[in-house]
Amino acid sequence: MNLKFNKNWQLSESLVTPEKEYRSRTRRDFIKTLGFGAAGALLLPNQSSAATEGFPSKLNPNYSGKELKVTPFNYVTSYNNFYEFGMDKGDPVTNSNQGWKTDPWTVEIRGLARNTGKFDVNALVRKVGGIEQRVYRHRCVEAWSMVIPWDGFQLSKLIALAEPTADAKYITFTSFEDSKNAVGQQDSNFGWPYIEGLRLDEAQNELAFMATGVFGKPLPNQNGAPLRLVTPWKYGFKGAKSIVLIEFTQEAPLNTWQRIRSEEYGFYANVNPKVDHPRWSQGSERVIGGGVFNGRQSTLMFNGYERQVASLYKGMDLKRYY
Ligand code: MTE
Repeated sequence: MNLKFNKNWQLSESLVTPEKEYRSRTRRDFIKTLGFGAAGALLLPNQSSAATEGFPSKLNPNYSGKELKVTPFNYVTSYNNFYEFGMDKGDPVTNSNQGWKTDPWTVEIRGLARNTGKFDVNALVRKVGGIEQRVYRHRCVEAWSMVIPWDGFQLSKLIALAEPTADAKYITFTSFEDSKNAVGQQDSNFGWPYIEGLRLDEAQNELAFMATGVFGKPLPNQNGAPLRLVTPWKYGFKGAKSIVLIEFTQEAPLNTWQRIRSEEYGFYANVNPKVDHPRWSQGSERVIGGGVFNGRQSTLMFNGYERQVASLYKGMDLKRYY
């Protein structure tokens, strides 16, 4: 495979850039994209979003994240990984809001299921019975983390509607393709579209979530409008953004990062402080928006969701299935 990627593809920004320079650059990005002091849960005037059905949603008390400190809105919506719109963390907020339309939006459900077809995203939200809010930890494989209040619905509801057949063992999520608006897709080295997948029993876990919003508002484009996957016990790269296709399959899909660099990124991608990335430790994480004194914390097994998900991996060698 030809990998002519910019350094940011290979190493997290904080690992390749001296701390001081990184901090001032991040700050500059915020100034550039937000106008500093534009605090508060407001979309910028030129930012678009979609999937408007069901807002405002109600917090589900079982996932209230009471013990967690929510990351400020401005970080969640301007420090992003969305390589279709550029390599740097500040690129998606700028580049995904220059004419890329996420409304209206159609999602296709295909493959080994009884109820397949194409659905308008708002109709799909209605079919699953609306949306709710959940506060989840969000841990990137690059060793940074946030806490995000997502709006959306439990993935298992969509699966129940689709009625997968007994042959279906995996579910695959495919992101959009639009190389005219998504400048990053003009680089064919990546092999677009972005693809992710889960074992069907993982997808049916109570935590697996389809997000249509953040902070009680429709997802901004840079966060994967109008529909993205959220699996909080896994590294963030599992959370495919701006999904157009959900497919039930017998075989595991080759997810994008595994295809690009399988020795570093696997299919499972479970957060695990005992299994390091070949080039950096996964034992701790930089808390985005945590400031100088609360800037780092230990990483928890399954990102703190061991009770809900450990049984999915009973007997598996998690060093081998990373
Ligand atoms: N989905 C698509 N289509 N393209 C991407 O580049 N990046 C992934 C994931 N989903 C990505 C994607 C990575 S590496 C992470 S950490 C999360 O999205 C980031 O989500 P956030 O920007 O909302 O924090």
